[in-house]
Amino acid sequence: MPKLGVNIDHVATLRQQRHPSTLDLLLAAHYCESAGADSIVVHLREDRRHIQDADVRSLRKSVKTRLNLEMSVASGIVSLAGRFKPDQATLVPEKRQELTTEGGLDVFGMKKRVECAVERLKKHNIDVSLFIEPDIKQIRAAHQLGVNIVELHTGAYANSFDRRKIKGNLKKIREAVICGHELGLVVNSGHGLDYNNVCAIAAIPGMYELNIGYSIVCHAVYVGLKQAVKQMKALIDK
Ligand code: PXP
Repeated sequence: MPKLGVNIDHVATLRQQRHPSTLDLLLAAHYCESAGADSIVVHLREDRRHIQDADVRSLRKSVKTRLNLEMSVASGIVSLAGRFKPDQATLVPEKRQELTTEGGLDVFGMKKRVECAVERLKKHNIDVSLFIEPDIKQIRAAHQLGVNIVELHTGAYANSFDRRKIKGNLKKIREAVICGHELGLVVNSGHGLDYNNVCAIAAIPGMYELNIGYSIVCHAVYVGLKQAVKQMKALIDK
């Protein structure tokens, strides 16, 4: 059964709308964990749009499952990760104007920079995952850099609405999972997954963990955070 990592960036997005705010990120993380989340994911962006340094520091102390820190390969952020010591760091591309992460990291095209970040993180005993497109070339490049985890970007699958495209994107993800396993990698997936499209991804043999944020936080507006996490967990288990 794939695990569920809950990304709580958008709880922080809401909190950032007021100062002071009554929204407690640590309590939100606790609710996610008590509803069955297997890890808590936060993205410390260079522009500090939602998650702040103090959040990561506090979450490090309070998270009981695993803390997965999404981050760019920027040197300053890598240094901070070394101090915060999350259980895992997931390297993602980052652009200033984007609404959310757009596409996977081009590990093949920027090997040197990624390798430098990976080596620095590994020295701190942090597990490193690379967020990449479901593309054989990228998976092989990730493997060559010595990471043992990759997260496949499911955005193209999640954003395709005609049947042929959905099938085609699913096929790419399935083949990428097989390739990752052949290379001995742990394969996770995420981005754009919701209550309607998650089952097909969760059903892929050997999928280790799904990282989901936006759809859970949106659903929580109607049903509460615990219930939203429980419902997503139930769909993945099904
Ligand atoms: N995985 C990664 C690497 C991401 O960057 C994000 C978005 O922050 C997610 C998963 C979660 O995506 P979503 O919020 O669309 O569920």
